[in-house]
Amino acid sequence: MCGIVGAVGFVSPKDYVFNGLKMLDYRGYDSAGVAYFNNGIQIFKDVGSVEHLLSIVPETIDTNIMIGHTRWATHGAPTKLNTHPHLSFHEKICLVHNGVIENFKELRGFLTGKGYRFYGETDTEIIANLLEYYYLEKGEIIEAIKTIMTLVKGSYAFAFFTSEDKNTLYVIKKASPLVIGLGEGFNLIASDASPMIEHTNKFIELDDLEFGIVTKDKVAIYNKKGEQIKKDTISKDVELISHDLKGYPHYMIKEIEEIPQTVRRLMAKYYQDDKYQFDPNLIKDLEESDHIIFIACGTSYHAGLVGGRYFEKYDKSTSRFIASEWAFHPTYPGKKPFIIMISQSGETADLIHCLKIIKEHNLKNLIITNTGGSTLDRNAMYSLLLYSGIEVSVASTKAYVAQVTLLAMLAAALSNDTKLIDDLTDSLDVIYDIQDHYKPLIMKVADEIKDKKNLFYLGRSFDYFLSLEASLKLKEISYIHSEAIPGGELKHGPIALIEKGIPVIVFITDPDTAASMRGNIEEVKSRGAKVYTIATKSLSKPEDTIMVEDYAYYLSSVAVSSIAFYLAYYVALAKGLNVDKPRNLAKSVTVE
Ligand code: AGP
Ligand code: GLU
Repeated sequence: MCGIVGAVGFVSPKDYVFNGLKMLDYRGYDSAGVAYFNNGIQIFKDVGSVEHLLSIVPETIDTNIMIGHTRWATHGAPTKLNTHPHLSFHEKICLVHNGVIENFKELRGFLTGKGYRFYGETDTEIIANLLEYYYLEKGEIIEAIKTIMTLVKGSYAFAFFTSEDKNTLYVIKKASPLVIGLGEGFNLIASDASPMIEHTNKFIELDDLEFGIVTKDKVAIYNKKGEQIKKDTISKDVELISHDLKGYPHYMIKEIEEIPQTVRRLMAKYYQDDKYQFDPNLIKDLEESDHIIFIACGTSYHAGLVGGRYFEKYDKSTSRFIASEWAFHPTYPGKKPFIIMISQSGETADLIHCLKIIKEHNLKNLIITNTGGSTLDRNAMYSLLLYSGIEVSVASTKAYVAQVTLLAMLAAALSNDTKLIDDLTDSLDVIYDIQDHYKPLIMKVADEIKDKKNLFYLGRSFDYFLSLEASLKLKEISYIHSEAIPGGELKHGPIALIEKGIPVIVFITDPDTAASMRGNIEEVKSRGAKVYTIATKSLSKPEDTIMVEDYAYYLSSVAVSSIAFYLAYYVALAKGLNVDKPRNLAKSVTVE
């Protein structure tokens, strides 16, 4: 959500900033802007894409410094005036921001009292002015930064420069990501490392309540008291952050097709020499805990639902929470709870909020994430990486399967249950089979359902959790209203919505619940639903839509989730929608 890039001293800042904004556009945005210094501060910004922005800036830009921003509006509509960068009232400060300022109204009131006027509605514009106010009052930019850090509540990554110094970029961070890339004779900034990796593999990650002063030859980092601090330089795995469509038309389909290699990579990484390879301290802490709490958002939460069941299989008691719910009503069942957080991006603000509470209570915790170096990776007690490679499409696919796979392996490690490895291997055969043989059939179903307004997914147990994920994926990118219903709940309400022609997609892969699911199918059919079934061979009937080879039923989120992913993809494609960047959504939800 929202991208910041910036450069000082770089030979062609325009190229870096525009390429960088494009590399970050997977995070989601509605408007974009840049600012640079050439005979004073120049700002170009507008609603719409980075390509559009490129078409309105000068062909050649002669400057030493540039900042760029893609905005995902939180305060004020996506309009040109609200687009970043924002210039302060006396035109001294030019600033971009990622995050949300909670007390912006109060700060706006303060500034209004001092004669300040504002052109837009954003929280960000207030900060550009607050900085200017204290800069003019104190005559010192460091003093102004220190002061605003004590006043501003909320989350922020700020990048700015002043009208009086075309050689210095300033960055300030709290709860929103910001990385500095170190070059020879230039330095770069960005929300994550991906835009910079072409130019450097040396990075400094700002921690919360730190700020940086960046010139072409020097990067100085300070704490909130204004004391200069020493920071480690880190490097990043180039492969994991490279963006490349590899010949696919969209990231989503590329990422669905990468599912088998993702599962294999996890098996190779966390299971070697016939043994699970996890930090023994982590295993000990899990064994000693009497309750495991799973916390996550969206797709990652769905993975947590499945993961919880895996731990219950090994006699662990569990509970699962949506992060934004838990954060405002935290509960810690048991005497020794252990928290497992799950996040593809490692930057989800709702979950970062939970981690803060978890740390305040000194609870043992683990993050499962795809993003090494992310805020959650750096701040959790234990971290397990998914090694899935960057996931660009807003709709998460391979990361979901990786999360489920890793949770299954971690749970199995508690009792050294190695049968899982055979079961995962069988699941891989099913996934390949789907990739090789079922796409035309799924496209046909996509064509039949693409113009429907409503749809239901039905399943029980593991198939219900998968239905939740299948349904989320469809609504995210095809904009069809879709709900997942546990088969048994149908008659407790949702069946009222079944009418002639409504599509109902049913998973039947669990021997214990197959007969009940067949009963549900009769219930909806008799009310006119158009039923599509996905069944494993031993549970199938000739009329089923898709029949796949048998696999260990508890792995349905690994083995057959790609059917649901392809279906969502082909429906969105058939409707001519933006598959990788659906409306209103962002890849990395860095605001609460
Ligand atoms: C997935 O398709 C969604 N775009 C969304 O639900 C996502 O899973 C959620 O925002 C959590 O993100 P995270 O895994 O990066 O924390
Ligand atoms: N809150 C700011 C705004 O609405 C920044 C949003 C973002 O992170 O893009 O402009």
